[in-house]
Amino acid sequence: MTDYRLLEKQVRELLSEESDPIANAANFAALLFGEIPDLSWAGFYYAGPTDELVLGPFQGRPACARLPKGRGVCGAAFSSRQIVVVDDVSQFADHIACDADARSEMVVPLVVDNVAYGVFDVDSARLKRFSSNDQRGIERLVEAFVSRTAPPQRPEKESPAFDENSVGEIPE
Ligand code: SME
Repeated sequence: MTDYRLLEKQVRELLSEESDPIANAANFAALLFGEIPDLSWAGFYYAGPTDELVLGPFQGRPACARLPKGRGVCGAAFSSRQIVVVDDVSQFADHIACDADARSEMVVPLVVDNVAYGVFDVDSARLKRFSSNDQRGIERLVEAFVSRTAPPQRPEKESPAFDENSVGEIPE
């Protein structure tokens, strides 16, 4: 069984020397992915200036870069500002399958002053992977993360998609 107390201590240590939100999010995802058994994916989605959640630092296979804010397990956690645990993703009609191996999933909203700025998502290839002990443990780890790391600065407007034909051109 995962020792969440020890993991929380490790999270606090890991985040104590660094304030950069992306560096801390990347290390947080790597720590949890490495220490919690049977995860197939662990990572962040952040609210951007559009009606989408945009992929942040994660561990696991490449995932959907954007999710609608009100859809999927991530969108449900984001818009309700509540933890959402899905024991069997095939039974959650609105599940967005980024990874065909995922069987169960848990999403914790990132909330500051009652405003959600993103979510932390963990997936497993095992059904019912997240027991109540895991739910409490992961929730506490995310709380420790949120209390030690400011939300990343997002641009107010999206930059245009990268245009490979403009490589080498001198911007005006
Ligand atoms: N399954 C999620 C999408 C994100 S991936 O699992 C990384 C959802 O339904 O929101």
